Amino acid sequence: MKTENAYSSKELSPTTWPDFEALFAKHNGVWGGCWCMFYHTKGEFLIKGHGPDNKKTKKALVKKRRTHGIIVYSGKTPIGWVQYGPKPELPRIDASKTYQRLSLDDEGKRFWRITCFFVDRNNRRRGVAGFGLNAALASINKKGGGIVEAYPSTKPSKGASLMWSGTVSMFAGAGFDVGIATRQVERCNAKARLMSQAL
Ligand SMILES: CC(C)(COP(=O)(O)OP(=O)(O)OC[C@H]1O[C@@H](n2cnc3c(N)ncnc32)[C@H](O)[C@@H]1OP(=O)(O)O)[C@@H](O)C(=O)NCCC(=O)NCCS
Repeated sequence: MKTENAYSSKELSPTTWPDFEALFAKHNGVWGGCWCMFYHTKGEFLIKGHGPDNKKTKKALVKKRRTHGIIVYSGKTPIGWVQYGPKPELPRIDASKTYQRLSLDDEGKRFWRITCFFVDRNNRRRGVAGFGLNAALASINKKGGGIVEAYPSTKPSKGASLMWSGTVSMFAGAGFDVGIATRQVERCNAKARLMSQAL
């Protein structure tokens, strides 16, 4: 998928794993070795070293097709990452008491969530995350669509490393309903905003 700004994207798969690995390895596994495993888990989350255990688990999930994400490329170089998935695949949000209190009705609907963005430190503020978001939404659509939840940071001024869940404006620009974004949900120690969009 080429666009005028020359980015392209591919789905994370056993074939594209080496690209994901290269991007994350360049940044020490991201967040000191998360390898984008945090939202796949509940409870305590340990990172030892640069996260070889997380990397191994992520690779196994890729093999079993139990993790989803978009890799963004500039030419052949992987420069960006967006994690999405069906709700049960990313259970950490469900464990949040604040989220549970929202008592969202998901009966009979297909729910997705977009949890993480990561862009190569040399390629930021050039629309990579926005491009990846659109690619993730296109992928969700291809898989049958549903309701997509996102939890963008309400405090972007705190710095890029705390903006892993994206910004409100990014999601609003991609068609998310800001009107629903009135309730706060917990995202680790920060506040995030719940927004959703029907695809
Ligand atoms: C947050 C991050 C994903 C943004 O990626 P990006 O490609 O630079 O973002 P884009 O250029 O597509 O911009 C998207 C929006 O965010 C805003 N933005 C990007 N970086 C920002 C910053 N540091 N401060 C404030 N706003 C910022 C842009 O202005 C843009 O806003 P708009 O939609 O109103 O135009 C990137 O800085 C990053 O990877 N940070 C580290 C996150 C991380 O540690 N993730 C680990 C978990 S996997």
